[in-house]
Amino acid sequence: MTRPTQDADPLIAIRDLSVSFATSAGPAEVLRNVTLDLGRGRIVGLVGESGSGKSTLASAITRLLPANLSRLDGGILYEGRDLLAEPEAAVAALRGSRFAMIFQDPMGALNPVFRVGTQLVDLQRAKAPKASRRDRMARAVAMLTRVGIPDAARRIRDYPHQFSGGMRQRIMIAAALLCEPDLLIADEPTTALDPTIEGQIVALIDELRHGFQGTILLISHSLGLVSHLCDDVAVLYAGALVERGPAAAVLGAPRHPYTRALLACEIGADVVRRATLATIPGDAPDPTRLPPGCVFAPRCSQAIDSCRDAVPELRPVDGDGGHAAACLLV
Ligand SMILES: Nc1ncnc2c1ncn2[C@@H]1O[C@H](COP(=O)(O)OP(=O)(O)OP(=O)(O)O)[C@@H](O)[C@H]1O
Ligand SMILES: [Mg+2]
Repeated sequence: MTRPTQDADPLIAIRDLSVSFATSAGPAEVLRNVTLDLGRGRIVGLVGESGSGKSTLASAITRLLPANLSRLDGGILYEGRDLLAEPEAAVAALRGSRFAMIFQDPMGALNPVFRVGTQLVDLQRAKAPKASRRDRMARAVAMLTRVGIPDAARRIRDYPHQFSGGMRQRIMIAAALLCEPDLLIADEPTTALDPTIEGQIVALIDELRHGFQGTILLISHSLGLVSHLCDDVAVLYAGALVERGPAAAVLGAPRHPYTRALLACEIGADVVRRATLATIPGDAPDPTRLPPGCVFAPRCSQAIDSCRDAVPELRPVDGDGGHAAACLLV
């Protein structure tokens, strides 16, 4: 049974989110009116070509936006609070306690001068302030073992550079899980890894999701990876959410021409293979010079004149199943 995406009480409700950055060519409109729910306990895949705004969406939730931010509108609702209206310090306090992140480059997130154990002990402070160092160390060893670090009790005294890239990504996953976050954001967690290791990390995420209560936002170029792991999918194109819904519906019966084009680009049946999305004719628009109307129209083989008149709204395509697409032709 597939549950609808739009459950009545999502963990995070993103409403009409617009983000622009100041550039020498004028404001870059990187996200426009994005509305999306991240349901409790769901794995939500966020897909789209490079530059579509995936990482910016994650940065808006965690308020790690760059200094040249020139517009931040809309709402991001979490536990009755609008994160965009909260002081930055309040959102910073949620990072590392309620929100955890795994990035493409795990070395960037681990501190090279501290032993892995020290870092895994420290990050438990927010969640378990009263636990002894010894207890936290024991939890860290258990978690490292769980994510597949052999001989964890000894290796926990090593420094990050003493681990391979795949092992460092496992450590980052352990770090994220030790926080017991409500929301885990994984931004291209396997892109920097070679295909064998990538497969192992995908299998690990697949296995761990069963013991994890929180919501996962999985950002990926790979529709195969997303269809393998995710309950729901959201498709971004040039800062606009063009389609969203249960993964089986969006990837099994895509309605937006962009989603269809993305799927057509996916190579082969191997579900965890990385896709090259560059085979859709034309380029994504420059965010400082977006076309009028539907942002995909200039590349869409089915576009008609009225597609260029107004930005299409995201409309349900299957009643209340949560599947919606922003296309005049749907
Ligand atoms: N600080 C900034 N100033 C100006 N433009 C920016 C800034 N940060 C990002 N952008 C632009 O915003 C758009 C979205 O970037 P973002 O990193 O969110 O895309 P993405 O979907 O995560 O891409 P990728 O798949 O390559 O990681 C891109 O056009 C990018 O060039
Ligand atoms: Mg990105």
